[in-house]
Amino acid sequence: MSESKTKIFRLEEVKKNKNSKSTWVVIHNSVYNVTEFLNEHPGGEEVLLEQAGRDASEAFEDVGHSSDAREMMEKYKIGELAEEDRVKTERKPQAWSSDASSASSKDNNWNAWLIPVVIGIVTIVLYKYLS
Ligand code: HEM
Repeated sequence: MSESKTKIFRLEEVKKNKNSKSTWVVIHNSVYNVTEFLNEHPGGEEVLLEQAGRDASEAFEDVGHSSDAREMMEKYKIGELAEEDRVKTERKPQAWSSDASSASSKDNNWNAWLIPVVIGIVTIVLYKYLS
């Protein structure tokens, strides 16, 4: 019967379901409607809403979900992502690996240094002043 055919969704459509009234996520090219699961998710609804309407595969794997969690997901699966919208499993070029951004990442390093140094100086001054 045609009912058993897997439904195919475009990413455009998934993107429309990113609020607490309708929450869809894409994990490994499958589309899940987790609206009913928001309240039950042991990791909280916040993280699901954060990933809603997009590909949450990486976030999902980063958590190291148990096999129980993976079994649970099947209940919420509503279909699969259209072939055209699938992301290849090979690594995408990351912003940090491109030449253009390496200059700005040096700037970021500077900021990262500056803040603790300023906090240190302020602490020393305050300590001397108060003692
Ligand atoms: C249908 C999809 C999902 C299901 C069925 C699911 C299920 C679960 C379950 C059962 C747990 C408890 C721990 C475990 O058994 O692994 C959990 C924890 C968690 N999940 Fe999910 N999850 C889903 C999607 C996501 C997504 C997209 C994120 C995005 C970051 C996420 C983030 C977390 C976090 C942060 C925890 C807490 C881990 C901890 O306390 O150590 N989950 N989830």
